[in-house]
Amino acid sequence: MRYLSPLRYPGGKAKIAPFLARLIREQQPSPRVYAEPFAGGAGAALALLIGEHVDRIRLNDFDAGIAAFWRAVVNHTEELANLVQNEPVTLDAWHRHRERYTNSHGSDIELGFSTFFLNRTNRSGILRARPIGGLDQTGQWKIDARFNRDDLAERIRSIGRYGSRISVTQLDVFDFLSLISDEPRHQRGRHFLYVDPPYLLKSEDLYLDTLSWNHHKQLARFLRRTGLRWLLTYDVDPRVITDLYPGNPCVQFAISHTAARQHVGDEYAVFSKKTKLISLDGLSVSAARWVERGGNDVLQPEEVRPTLFDIPQSSALLSEDQAGLRI
Ligand SMILES: C[S@@+](CC[C@H](N)C(=O)[O-])C[C@H]1O[C@@H](n2cnc3c(N)ncnc32)[C@H](O)[C@@H]1O
Repeated sequence: MRYLSPLRYPGGKAKIAPFLARLIREQQPSPRVYAEPFAGGAGAALALLIGEHVDRIRLNDFDAGIAAFWRAVVNHTEELANLVQNEPVTLDAWHRHRERYTNSHGSDIELGFSTFFLNRTNRSGILRARPIGGLDQTGQWKIDARFNRDDLAERIRSIGRYGSRISVTQLDVFDFLSLISDEPRHQRGRHFLYVDPPYLLKSEDLYLDTLSWNHHKQLARFLRRTGLRWLLTYDVDPRVITDLYPGNPCVQFAISHTAARQHVGDEYAVFSKKTKLISLDGLSVSAARWVERGGNDVLQPEEVRPTLFDIPQSSALLSEDQAGLRI
């Protein structure tokens, strides 16, 4: 897979872009604007834009450094690409960039570059982690192991060419969703939302996470009521089906992650009832399966049932009847 995003992202979703492209194509009318309220590395969004599957992408992230980075890519492309090619990648620089990111100060280009620097020099791209090789640089890999300057500068320049079709905001998710909801009907109807919130089960300090359980419930209330079409992904937690999205189509799929080390993990994909869903092609690296809520029963993970079918290999075309969905 060709990487489009200059950011490494724990839990990054670039891999589901083929599935999203197909899903968007299948909607009637086909959405022309793709929006991510929790954009992070925005790998899927960039693939959809550069692949010409949508006309415009809207990237939102509440992390000031991440938002500054995307604004810098769009508005100061050449300046940013030059910094990437020429700035020293040393431990001294790391301390300076970490100080700037932690205090969220500086212009978009300064804060954006500092955020990028930490993303490329820290373990697994985790902004609050230590540098690759450690603070004493005695590890097998050194701080610049992931700082492939020319390739990264080229990715930034490539994205910059699409700048007029990318909008960046730095809003809390609820403000961002309200912004879209308040737009005239014909405009909001052109949107497709991909919602990838911080995990429910917090494991490490992977990225900014401002969401409490009540916020997750508030997000679910908003998404279940909205007329917008959306897809949401979560960690596999029974509360997604029992408490947050009962009655919404939900599929469990496998995706490889790179946080800490490369491994394949399972996630849930939940769909709005308005989303027309024909195929799971492109969604999973191994097998995907539908899960279904059992009335008001509280489901334990091992009881999530029934598995309606396992998807054979990568190309299962399903009718809505087969999938047993109410879409
Ligand atoms: C799971 S990551 C998104 C990863 C992204 N889908 C990708 O492929 O790289 C969640 C993102 O949500 C952002 N975030 C956390 N709280 C937020 C909030 N209240 N509103 C908007 N963004 C938030 C974090 O900064 C982080 O970048």
